Amino acid sequence: MTEIADIRTLAERLARQAGAIQHDRYETDLDVRTKSASIDLVTEVDHACEALIVGTLTKQRPDDAILAEEGGGDDRADAEWRWVIDPLDGTMNYAHGYPRFCVSIGIQHRGVPTVGIVFDPLLDELFAATRGEGATCNGRRIHVSGERELSRALLATGFAYDVHQSPEDNLDHFATFVKRVRGLRRDGSAALDLCYVAAGRFDGFWELKLHPWDVAAGNLIVDEAGGRTSDLAGNPPAGDGRETLATNAHLHDAMVKLFTR
Ligand code: IPD
Ligand code: CA
Ligand code: CA
Repeated sequence: MTEIADIRTLAERLARQAGAIQHDRYETDLDVRTKSASIDLVTEVDHACEALIVGTLTKQRPDDAILAEEGGGDDRADAEWRWVIDPLDGTMNYAHGYPRFCVSIGIQHRGVPTVGIVFDPLLDELFAATRGEGATCNGRRIHVSGERELSRALLATGFAYDVHQSPEDNLDHFATFVKRVRGLRRDGSAALDLCYVAAGRFDGFWELKLHPWDVAAGNLIVDEAGGRTSDLAGNPPAGDGRETLATNAHLHDAMVKLFTR
């Protein structure tokens, strides 16, 4: 096996193991705390999933850099490989027993997104991509939708945890699109939203103020499924998630036009 294939196999195993923790603890009595704002939650399951993933990587791939949301990794600048991990994407959903959450693991090789794995433990769906090899869900190839009309599109978006305080709250874009599209969802897991674009379930997704761990896997999965990812002005994504637009490619320019008008 090549090193990339080894890494992908390890990432899939870790995503499934963390997902098993999420599945076991779902709808149980959780210790829920707040982080950056009163609506920014973290549970002991976020920490348990991160400890499992980071603990294994530290032992098995000691030279790799790790950026993990809850701060457990060592993000070294000189590493060849870098793991970007959201141990539980959709924590608010998880804490409320709303069944939309996942594990997201993106792996970069010398800064280039190379492997992406997103696992939804309730639906038992594993989305995966390796650069240049296409995207899959549970081993079957997935493709973005063929929709070319915004008026027939189902889109998704999200709101950052500073929505109560910040004037940059995405409500202007929400109002623009909700009047033009068939449907607009706010489903609470950015990594799954991106995979749903890749699988043709959503025709497009955008969000402001995401973080690298929200998009590291999902952006690659969209690209490999034939979609397009960018910032809201249509420039290549910076990787930091601060401006995220992902579409089936056909609707991309029309959406950029509405963001930049
Ligand atoms: C959040 C989810 C949500 C998005 C937020 C993210 P978390 O991640 O992806 O859909 O709207 O902006 O922070 O906190 O559940 O890992
Ligand atoms: Ca997240
Ligand atoms: Ca998270």
